[in-house]
Amino acid sequence: MYDFSTEIERRGSGDLMHEALLPRWGRDDLQPMWVADMDFAVCPDILNAIRRRLDHPILGYTVEPEDFWPSVQYWILSHHGWQVERPWLKFIPGIVKGIGMVINVFVKPDEKVIVMPPVYHPFFLTPRGNHREVVWNPLRRRDGGYYDIDFDNLEKVCDNKCRLLILCTPHNPAGICWDKETLQNLAAFCYDHHLLVISDEIHCDLALFGHKHIPFATVSDKARDISITFQAPTKTFNIAGVISSYAIVPNPEIRRKFYGWITANELDEANLFAPIATIAAYRHGEPWRRELIAYLEDNVRFVEDYCRQYIPGIRPLRPQASFLVWLDCRDLHLSHDALLDLFIDKAHLALNDGEMFGPGGEGFMRLNIGSPRSYIERGLRHLADAVNSTVGT
Ligand SMILES: Cc1ncc(COP(=O)(O)O)c(C=O)c1O
Repeated sequence: MYDFSTEIERRGSGDLMHEALLPRWGRDDLQPMWVADMDFAVCPDILNAIRRRLDHPILGYTVEPEDFWPSVQYWILSHHGWQVERPWLKFIPGIVKGIGMVINVFVKPDEKVIVMPPVYHPFFLTPRGNHREVVWNPLRRRDGGYYDIDFDNLEKVCDNKCRLLILCTPHNPAGICWDKETLQNLAAFCYDHHLLVISDEIHCDLALFGHKHIPFATVSDKARDISITFQAPTKTFNIAGVISSYAIVPNPEIRRKFYGWITANELDEANLFAPIATIAAYRHGEPWRRELIAYLEDNVRFVEDYCRQYIPGIRPLRPQASFLVWLDCRDLHLSHDALLDLFIDKAHLALNDGEMFGPGGEGFMRLNIGSPRSYIERGLRHLADAVNSTVGT
């Protein structure tokens, strides 16, 4: 039994969740429920592995432990049924950085990147920061709140300058595990239109409620041949600060170009602690992950029940994966500024607002539920009070 219910004081640890309140919100009296890491203690096996290494007093240049890549291959095979060959794998120092690398290697300055909002904002900020044009293919909202990929619009917006499509699966912020048929259709489209696909699968080991993550590259030969997949243990095991992620590229031509560039720049050299934490997570972290999933599912149910009972104007979309809940606040009929005023000034909460994720995010907020239930309950209570006092005025 691991402890997910004790609140741990993070202030003083330099955590982004609290330290960024003042610079980003202009005040630090807010309860943070935003950036995507969790308030749970890391699995003891991981902490112990790092501690053991610290028993040695020298932290010089170090080779990768022998079990690093076998542990990654074992994890991917045992969790996703995907037999990944050793040459397909390469360390990258973070997935957003990986996106930046792909853009620099594969997308010429006059070429474009397709993204499907609402989506994790670095998907469009990174291309733009690198002066590449972003093309929107907004997701289509279905009745019931889930989303589809809009293939008709994709056909319309994709021209011969489009070189890369960035896919988020499972999807942040809506928590969708895209189904096989959708992924196959997307692969066929991208193959026919000569698009490279980044499949960002950082949330892949947190599928909830019996949903299953399907790695994009496994859905068809076309998907395998045009894709660069990014995965990591960092979200699942709450070790984002360690920085450990990897690319998976089955196509040897893409590998030659991408991995050649990464190696030339030594961007594949992991920091000392990344392989240690990754091996411990993948070899010993499964019981912790299973308990985490059960706790997160209960947190989702708690949020659903609470909103139904006390804040019916806010409708949470049940995530199929991960610890982020997409809150549909449109029934409150508030402008963007009034919605922020409600969450920040009245409820004293710091969430990611939906507009941050691009077109389609208007009227939504993203709630991080990777916290002890008491913490979430406190946040929701403040929100309910704020909504009720706003509606009452
Ligand atoms: C979809 C997605 N990709 C990437 C990241 C960040 O990954 P990294 O810290 O490895 O850059 C996040 C973090 O929230 C995410 O949700």
